Amino acid sequence: MDEKYRAIVITVSDRASAGVYEDGTGPAVAALLTERGYAVIGTRVVPDERADIEAALVESAEKDVALVLTCGGTGFSPRDVTPEATEAVCERRVPGLPEAMRAASARITDRAWLSRATAGIRERTLVVNLPGSPRAAVENLEAVVGPLAHGLDILRGGPATCAREGQQ
Ligand code: MTE
Repeated sequence: MDEKYRAIVITVSDRASAGVYEDGTGPAVAALLTERGYAVIGTRVVPDERADIEAALVESAEKDVALVLTCGGTGFSPRDVTPEATEAVCERRVPGLPEAMRAASARITDRAWLSRATAGIRERTLVVNLPGSPRAAVENLEAVVGPLAHGLDILRGGPATCAREGQQ
């Protein structure tokens, strides 16, 4: 990652958005991104409402950020609709990132397989779903933060090549 990519973190939670508790997940994810060289230009909290999630994603992509991470709303609760909102606003899907997150997380807990997280691309913005708890969100992000930077180099039209060291 040569350039400092801009990112937005969206926490999806009815209770955090109602002020029942303070969101700890967005700040934890933002801290990890900052450590990895991203410029986090905003964190926000929205309720588990598909329209609110979609609007937050569309507004973030309009700001032309490279990366949007959502936290929460990927489980089985009837209110969990973050993957559906993500797929509705993305033109292209990126299945490998959630596959890698679930595979890495399954070494920690077999409940990882319950995650319905998805990832996709809207115009020049990559959207990736993470789970809602701070620890789970950080564990999932750590599983993909390395290759993700290379994906953004390609998405943002940089000089990236997919050839690995020693390859043509
Ligand atoms: N991944 C990791 N690394 N650690 C976890 O504790 N929890 C799982 C899964 N992924 C978990 C995890 C559980 S219990 C659920 S229900 C799903 O993430 C979805 O979480 P969400 O509903 O908070 O989005």
